[in-house]
Amino acid sequence: MTDAPTRPALVQSTGPAHTRIYAYGAARGENAVPNDDLVGPIDSSDEWIRQRTGIVTRVRADAATTAIDLASDAAAEAVATAGIDPALIDAVIVATISNPKQTPSVSAIVADRIGANPAAAYDLNAACAGFAYGVAQADALIRAGSAHYAVVVGAEKLSDIVDPTDRSISFLLGDGAGAAVVGPSDFPGIGPTVWGSDGSKAEAVGMNHTLVEFRDGQSPWPTLRQEGPTVFRWAVWEMVKVARQALEVAGVQASDLAAFVPHQANMRIIDEFAKQLKLPETVVIGRDIETTGNTSAASIPLATHRLLVEHPELSGGLALQIGFGAGLVFGAQVVVLP
Ligand SMILES: CC(C)(COP(=O)(O)OP(=O)(O)OC[C@H]1O[C@@H](n2cnc3c(N)ncnc32)[C@H](O)[C@@H]1OP(=O)(O)O)[C@@H](O)C(=O)NCCC(=O)NCCS
Repeated sequence: MTDAPTRPALVQSTGPAHTRIYAYGAARGENAVPNDDLVGPIDSSDEWIRQRTGIVTRVRADAATTAIDLASDAAAEAVATAGIDPALIDAVIVATISNPKQTPSVSAIVADRIGANPAAAYDLNAACAGFAYGVAQADALIRAGSAHYAVVVGAEKLSDIVDPTDRSISFLLGDGAGAAVVGPSDFPGIGPTVWGSDGSKAEAVGMNHTLVEFRDGQSPWPTLRQEGPTVFRWAVWEMVKVARQALEVAGVQASDLAAFVPHQANMRIIDEFAKQLKLPETVVIGRDIETTGNTSAASIPLATHRLLVEHPELSGGLALQIGFGAGLVFGAQVVVLP
């Protein structure tokens, strides 16, 4: 055994014991697109889409509006509602799969636009679980002393990566962004995250081609597609277990919840969750999919924002949120609503 080299002890940071969500912000695409506008090229009908998915209209953004614009608007609202000085935000995390530029990140531009420059900023690719992943990271960064406040955004302009003739997923998708400000708390406001992945099912949902194939003229513009029934079964059987675990590790029961906000993938999946989790009727369920569609990383914060607008009495109550999607990946946690 050799003696340890003589060196000064490092400082390692620690932060507050608890965190919570201070406020939400939301931005939806400017246009409500009804089912009838999309059914022609996929030989479908308004009735089929309503019955199989619960979607009546989805929101889609103007051509000139970007995921960065949507993210900035949602983040700015969340920061204004939280009432914090943007200079105290040290981390901006944007979950997205639809920024058409690989680099620079959406997050650095959003940080600058909301007055948080020079906050650490990075994008996160966890598809429809992206917001739950971002909340997990913000919570951990703050409790580790790496940030005072963090902004988590889910932002998508999915209409840029849909094929109007695709029957598997395109008609489900919408454009929007939802944001949350996370910061220190006197009480536990974000329960432990249950998260994970199953890359053996990577082919179940995702892009149908690479940009290189497109460049080389070997494919059309890459778009999203999925094996719908495979994803549906995985969501209903496996994700209910994840939701139960998130309740268990947070030390609460379904009957303690004020709200349930699952990823807005399909109304039938949401109903099945509610049934299997035996949610009492007092639990308000996020059903934003009906008029917003599936906005991937944005869907949970958009649905939560709407719930808080429509049911202000939920403030201070517990919400279970669960995201799941391409990867496959999943993430769930119980949070105290601001
Ligand atoms: C995509 C989805 C709505 C399809 O619904 P489904 O009930 O599974 O439909 P199926 O694929 O089993 O097809 C059932 C029938 O509808 C038809 N069909 C499929 N897509 C259709 C469409 N878009 N319009 C009209 N008919 C359609 C099929 O051809 C089939 O017809 P058949 O019975 O005559 O053979 C559903 O699978 C789903 O929501 N999956 C999960 C989505 C999800 O969670 N994604 C997460 C990642 S974002």
